[in-house]
Amino acid sequence: MNTKYNNWFDSKYYHILYKNRNHQEAREFIKKLIKHLKLKRKSKVLDAGCGKGRHSIEIEKLGHIVTGIDLSKNSIKFAKKFENSNLNFIVHDISKPLNMEFDAVLNLFTSFGYYERDKDLEILLSLQKNLNINGIGVIDFFNIKTVKDNLVKKEEVILENIKFKIVREIDKLSVTKEISFSDNNIDFKFKESVNTLSIIDFRNYFKKTDLEIIQVFGDYDLNKFKKDTSPRLIIIFKKKSQSN
Ligand SMILES: C[S@@+](CC[C@H](N)C(=O)[O-])C[C@H]1O[C@@H](n2cnc3c(N)ncnc32)[C@H](O)[C@@H]1O
Repeated sequence: MNTKYNNWFDSKYYHILYKNRNHQEAREFIKKLIKHLKLKRKSKVLDAGCGKGRHSIEIEKLGHIVTGIDLSKNSIKFAKKFENSNLNFIVHDISKPLNMEFDAVLNLFTSFGYYERDKDLEILLSLQKNLNINGIGVIDFFNIKTVKDNLVKKEEVILENIKFKIVREIDKLSVTKEISFSDNNIDFKFKESVNTLSIIDFRNYFKKTDLEIIQVFGDYDLNKFKKDTSPRLIIIFKKKSQSN
């Protein structure tokens, strides 16, 4: 398991391999999610693990005040091109709370689970600290059952004249992706490893916080989570001390 930040996310090759990441899907999901969360206009929203900002940008367009944070300097550099008075991006570790509170804290598209399990809890506690008393939180993770069932063990993708060889494995603890390729006659190998967290693991984490899960969805259309078939595990939570 990686104990330090995975520099794969900050490498230019990560951005080549995922340059076609789906913006349309992000836009539609955000519209549905923000409507569901019933956020008032000008709500303060934290996008924790924002990457290049595709969700943050859409949330700001819907009339909210958004802060996107990510440890990838290159992703934040890119996202900063879209900054305005209601949208800003900071290089920041999501396991360390910012010195402010938000009406909504979001952790989207598997931006969780890249470290030891203690660190997962640290991240959850940091999200809790950044959430105001009446705030609402969202963690959008993969559904480990369908990842297992549909695992493509080996894949080759050619982009910008680079042949990326991807090998995926799952064991009890993590889903690992090894990406190897050569560029200008230099060989590269990166590894991305995510904890195999199920809804039960998340429920156990939440028990150790002052947060409670209020709803669980299974896809970006916000259909109910079904353990065996849902592609995603989307957890909506609030503070236990919140009255309604
Ligand atoms: C799969 S990407 C998703 C990015 C973005 N949410 C999106 O949907 O485009 C996961 C992101 O989590 C970020 N990340 C992982 N651990 C982090 C940490 N401790 N602090 C800040 N960002 C982190 C990575 O840098 C990466 O940008």
